[in-house]
Amino acid sequence: MKTHFFVLLLSLTFLSLQDSTPPFFTSANRDTQNLISFKAALSNPSLLQNWLPNQNPCTFTGVECHETTNRVSSIGLGNIPLTCDFHPVATFLLTLESLESLSLKSANISGSISFPPGSKCSSVLSYLDLSQNSLSGSVSGIATLRSCPALKSFNLSGNSIEFSVLEEKSSGLRGLSFELLDLSFNKIVGSNAVPFILSEGCNELKHLSLKGNKVSGDIDFSSCKNLQYLDVSENNFSSSVPSFGKCLALEHLDISANKFHGDLGHAIGGCAKLNLLNVTSNNFSGPIPVLPTASLQSLSLGGNLFVGDIPLHLMDACPGLVMLDLSSNNLTGSVPSSLGSCTSLETFDISTNNLTGELPVDTLLKMTSLKRLDLAYNAFGGGLPDSFSQHTSLQSLDLSSNSLFGSIPTGLCKGPSNNLKELYLQNNRFTGSVPDTLSNCSQLTALHLSFNYLTGTIPSSLGSLYELRDLNLWFNQLHGEIPPELMNIKALETLILDFNELTGVIPSGISNCTNLKWISLSNNRLSGEIPESIGKLRSLTILKLSNNSFYGRIPPGLGDCRSLIWLDLNSNFLNGTIPPELFKQSGRIAVNFIRGKRYVYLKNDKSEQCHGEGNLLEFAGIRLEQLSRISSNHPCNFSRVYGEYTRPTFNDNGSMIFLDLSYNMLSGSIPAAIGSMSFLYVLILGHNNLSGNIPQEIGKLTGLDILDLSNNRLEGIIPQSMTGLSLLSEIDMSNNHLTGMIPEGGQFVTFLNHSFLNNEGLCGIPLPPCGSASGSSSNLGHQKSRRRQASLAGSVAMGLLFSLFCIFGLLIVAVEMKKRKKKKDSALDIYIDSRSHSDTANTAWKLTGREALSISLTTFESKPLRKLTFADLIEATNGFHNDSLIGSGGFGDVYKAELKDGSIVAIKKLIHISEIW
Ligand SMILES: *[C@@H]1O[C@H](CO)[C@@H](O)[C@H](O)[C@H]1NC(C)=O
Ligand SMILES: *[C@@H]1O[C@H](CO)[C@@H](O)[C@H](O)[C@H]1NC(C)=O
Ligand SMILES: *[C@@H]1O[C@H](CO)[C@@H](O)[C@H](O)[C@H]1NC(C)=O
Ligand SMILES: *[C@@H]1O[C@H](CO)[C@@H](O)[C@H](O)[C@H]1NC(C)=O
Ligand SMILES: *[C@@H]1O[C@H](CO)[C@@H](O)[C@H](O)[C@H]1NC(C)=O
Ligand SMILES: *[C@@H]1O[C@H](CO)[C@@H](O)[C@H](O)[C@H]1NC(C)=O
Ligand SMILES: *[C@@H]1O[C@H](CO)[C@@H](O)[C@H](O)[C@H]1NC(C)=O
Repeated sequence: MKTHFFVLLLSLTFLSLQDSTPPFFTSANRDTQNLISFKAALSNPSLLQNWLPNQNPCTFTGVECHETTNRVSSIGLGNIPLTCDFHPVATFLLTLESLESLSLKSANISGSISFPPGSKCSSVLSYLDLSQNSLSGSVSGIATLRSCPALKSFNLSGNSIEFSVLEEKSSGLRGLSFELLDLSFNKIVGSNAVPFILSEGCNELKHLSLKGNKVSGDIDFSSCKNLQYLDVSENNFSSSVPSFGKCLALEHLDISANKFHGDLGHAIGGCAKLNLLNVTSNNFSGPIPVLPTASLQSLSLGGNLFVGDIPLHLMDACPGLVMLDLSSNNLTGSVPSSLGSCTSLETFDISTNNLTGELPVDTLLKMTSLKRLDLAYNAFGGGLPDSFSQHTSLQSLDLSSNSLFGSIPTGLCKGPSNNLKELYLQNNRFTGSVPDTLSNCSQLTALHLSFNYLTGTIPSSLGSLYELRDLNLWFNQLHGEIPPELMNIKALETLILDFNELTGVIPSGISNCTNLKWISLSNNRLSGEIPESIGKLRSLTILKLSNNSFYGRIPPGLGDCRSLIWLDLNSNFLNGTIPPELFKQSGRIAVNFIRGKRYVYLKNDKSEQCHGEGNLLEFAGIRLEQLSRISSNHPCNFSRVYGEYTRPTFNDNGSMIFLDLSYNMLSGSIPAAIGSMSFLYVLILGHNNLSGNIPQEIGKLTGLDILDLSNNRLEGIIPQSMTGLSLLSEIDMSNNHLTGMIPEGGQFVTFLNHSFLNNEGLCGIPLPPCGSASGSSSNLGHQKSRRRQASLAGSVAMGLLFSLFCIFGLLIVAVEMKKRKKKKDSALDIYIDSRSHSDTANTAWKLTGREALSISLTTFESKPLRKLTFADLIEATNGFHNDSLIGSGGFGDVYKAELKDGSIVAIKKLIHISEIW
């Protein structure tokens, strides 16, 4: 009894003691303890140095307290790589009793979101930012945050949150009424995600972003009467445009990059407060609807199927409209003059439509705020009048691929306050000379005048454009020399002057332009030696000097160009030997320099007067149809055309991918060092004076697809090592002094005899058998069976359209030139997105019926192959499924497939374009 009393007394005393202590001391102490426990859970606690036990937490880095209570009210530890699981965040931070705001943006937090049952979340926590972490797990983890009753704003952008089918039956986010929820850039998939998220209703929601997920399904926001900001762009929606009900609050609506369709005008008609509307890249069709324009500042309707004129009702948005993008539709007619009332307009993009008439210069001049004007890829005619020069606010002017003619105004950039940075006039019909007054445009970074009919010389005054990065003047009729003054432009990155009538030499000052990445001077009348100092251009990635009159040796210094992947010197008078130094960078090239440049590659037809393997050309802003203009003044017919954007993907281990030295006077032997270029795809050394043996090392070029050593004086045997070149699809060894038996096996079974003609000593398939003196009868039998196999493989090849092009890094997707009737072939209508296997990702392949696949086959087993159809291959590889992927052999993915007869084959998937002209 005594003891009991004592115990009771003691505890009473204790309680009263606690009551009488100043409140902040113990509770702040509790905050400190929580924070210290959190610190202890980090893998690197030293990041929070001044978080110490027994200290006032209000002095801790990133911690803020209420002034009156001294309780922790806000924590911001963004961009500190805390590196911990979500669990300590929930246990020690979310439970801080007075916490209102917690920001752990980009703090390297992983694990899944869940609030531990039994703990008590701060009842005043309203703001939580966990964006840019590695949080995973499912959306339903968010539901456990209903323990935090005051949570209003939650940012989970840039994590790996998923949504699984199982969750469809759960109670969703009931109990949570967010005002702001940002789930952008996660891994949320499926058609039930939006109903799940909105299960509590939509009364409170003001801001919702699901951008960059794969959400689909029908969605309805008509009950979200407070919704101000909605971004569902970059998802998989393919339904009709959602309903927004009365839409009283909506200011920002971005539904771009989906497949929405339907009546846009009706769906958003009531959204009177709409400030930004972005429906870019959807399937809206018909005439542009009447839109709520009262508050509209930014309107993007590009990449849809809108037809008809630019409607006059759009002008109701002026003068408030700042941005108008109608590009890539099918709009016709002319630009209405009432657009002149859009005096605040800064960006006006109507490119890639079918608009006609003269350039609406007077209307454009009234748009006095205009900074970016893009009228490219339309059918505007007439001239570019000098009065256009009065537009001094303009920074970027793109008139490429229209039908403009007359001369380029000399008055451009007349005023001292001009701001022009980009001038794109390529692919028009401009005549006259390149005005030397363009040097007034002192801020110019891009000057594209290619594909016109310009005459005269390149003005040396352009050398004063110190900011200039692109000087692209190819396919004109310019003559005279390349002005040495151009080499004062230190910023220069691309110098593209092909297909002119230029004479003289490459100015030696070129080595001063150390930012040069792409030099293309082919098809001129340039001569002199290639300056040795060109090796100082460390960023030089593409050098094309073909079809000129350069002489002397190939400068060994070129081997110092640490980024060179494309070297085309064909059809000059170069002599001397192939310098082994050229291959010095093999295995070390890390090309990231040249990215996103549009190009075409024209594969030559191999006719007598057509030299070189093919032509790589800069192609920004030029219509493909216009290529016929090249064939009109060039002896070559192109057998195939490929176009894409450059995107090299080496990882410090690259090598040259294209080397064409044909039609020169090179002598000596082929250096063994050539074998170091493990990514080389095209090697063309034909039509020189090369002698000696073919080096064994050539067998190390495992990525090689096209090899031409023809018309030299090579002797000895074809190295057996070459049978290992499993991707080789074209070979030409004709007109040499080679001897011995053509190697057996590998791709050699597929080559025809013209590849080996005129070598007095060569024998064996596909040439006549080697002399019976050397062949035993068993050997003959063996050869017979090989021949049968070869012809079978040959028929497979014919059936499947062999050979192809696919450049690693500079990957080339087929483009068809002549509009051809789309073949009804559903088997070809597949979409293969190689980004889904990121280790081999270098491209996205879109294959349509027009773009046939090319496939080369190599048997794993030595069974002869049957004739296969494309459908057989789709089936055998399970639609080129990742599971069948066995490698990405340099330039294309290789799949293993089991055919119906049980044989196993390797299939290299490439893209092919059938003959165009
Ligand atoms: C982020 O966390 C992971 C483990 O989850 C760790 O491997 C990585 O090094 C951390 N990153 C940084 C920048 O601390
Ligand atoms: C969410 O976080 C991301 C990345 O930190 C940020 O870009 C975005 O603006 C945030 N969302 C909101 C609504 O603040
Ligand atoms: C509109 O959406 C497209 C595609 O998602 C995007 O590239 C563009 O920047 C957006 N424009 C504006 C003004 O938000
Ligand atoms: C564009 O419109 C014209 C006439 O309205 C039509 O003939 C043509 O097929 C359309 N083109 C596309 C790509 O929709
Ligand atoms: C552009 O319009 C003309 C005539 O109006 C038509 O012949 C042509 O096919 C159209 N081009 C496209 C790409 O729709
Ligand atoms: C390269 O530039 C330097 C000064 O920047 C100049 O002295 C030199 O003459 C230039 N070289 C050539 C070959 O023009
Ligand atoms: C290369 O040609 C030049 C003249 O163009 C000549 O002077 C030189 O001797 C030649 N070199 C070789 C190795 O043939």
